[in-house]
Amino acid sequence: MNMRDIIIAKRDKNSLTDEQIKFFVEGVTDGSIPDYQISALLMAIVLNGMDEREMTTLTLEMAASGSQMDLSYLDGVPVDKHSTGGVGDKITPVLLPLIATFGVETVKLSGRGLGFTGGTVDKFESIKGFNIEVDSKDFPRLVKETGMVISGQTPDLAPADKILYALRDVTGTVDSIPLIASSIMSKKIAGGAKVIVLDVTCGSGAFMKDYKMAKELAEAMIKIGKLAGRKTVAVITDMDQPLGRFCGNILEMQEVFDTVTGKGEEDVIEVVTELAYHLITLAGKDAGMSEEVLRNEIRARLSDGSCYEKFKALIKSQGGELSPSGYPVYVDKPFDSMHVNSPESGYVQGMRADLIGQASVLLGAGRLAKTDSIDYGAGIGFFVKIGDRVERGDSLCALYQGENSTLPEERLFDAMDLILEAYEIGPNPPEKKAAILDVIT
Ligand code: URA
Repeated sequence: MNMRDIIIAKRDKNSLTDEQIKFFVEGVTDGSIPDYQISALLMAIVLNGMDEREMTTLTLEMAASGSQMDLSYLDGVPVDKHSTGGVGDKITPVLLPLIATFGVETVKLSGRGLGFTGGTVDKFESIKGFNIEVDSKDFPRLVKETGMVISGQTPDLAPADKILYALRDVTGTVDSIPLIASSIMSKKIAGGAKVIVLDVTCGSGAFMKDYKMAKELAEAMIKIGKLAGRKTVAVITDMDQPLGRFCGNILEMQEVFDTVTGKGEEDVIEVVTELAYHLITLAGKDAGMSEEVLRNEIRARLSDGSCYEKFKALIKSQGGELSPSGYPVYVDKPFDSMHVNSPESGYVQGMRADLIGQASVLLGAGRLAKTDSIDYGAGIGFFVKIGDRVERGDSLCALYQGENSTLPEERLFDAMDLILEAYEIGPNPPEKKAAILDVIT
């Protein structure tokens, strides 16, 4: 077998055999296939696609390219959740303690933000003392203590995906359903999940810009999950505007605190409730409750203090500081340094989440290169969102910086320009859009 023949087979629109895919992934992982041949095959896959069997084999081979987590110490079925990313996406820090109140235990491996989307690792790191690089030897002890552990991804989890992703990034081969689906699912499978609930975001602030693409990706991942013997559900959620009221690390963790203490925004609660419902039922922890009763119970636990208790337990168990009154202590203090005012009167018609995410990065909340440092206090707070009425001169949003920020002033103005471009104001109230667009099982 040789790589040239494999590239030609895909170029000529043939299905690759399992042996050819295995040869490819092994060669990527051990470095025996040069980047130019890997890139040529990736481009052939982008152009000619893969069928379900090929996608599943690629996923399983990538999952097997490094160490695979054994979660047999968990009480119950190992579950995992994955979001395809967005702006203001603060779901994981609410969801883990919430499902833990139902006895669903999780080992969650999360990533940092890159580009305009935020990352869960950065959000937790904004809490003073919180250790996000947990040694996997400590996972069983932490899960026993609180029902959950959250950590950055270990380097030996699906190493083939890391190599492929870095090449895809620089060869124009990211946008491919089989490549995205296998990349995501390989990490979930290597992470030991038997139940996978996917939050497939859709809209200007997401990878998948429209519903049709989001559905196609969701269906591809469900097919892979099914063929790989994992129970998989995909929830398609709206990312045509940021989720909740804030984006930025400390600002989002403050919103997480509000959500776990019963003062959350409705869109955040809707998405969290939907994901929690599927995770709890697929894990068999619904205690025989009907769908309606379980959904009401999930919402109730956000406001009756039980989710908050689990949230505090998670922070404490990973070394995070809590004030005597139970607030997380953060590494910096966000301050509201400028408001962006509406240039006209009307209703908010649209809020380009990608531009808002870029503005947040300009303020220092995210990084453009992996090595950039971030300002944990930076971000944006939204006074109005789609459907709200504004008068000319009203504040649309506030731009925040951390107290220790050294941001040049012109960056604030660049961020302001992006926000003015992002907000679309029109004369009539727009149609209301749901936070959950579809559920695919
Ligand atoms: N997220 C991933 O993990 N992989 C992709 O290819 C795209 C998004």
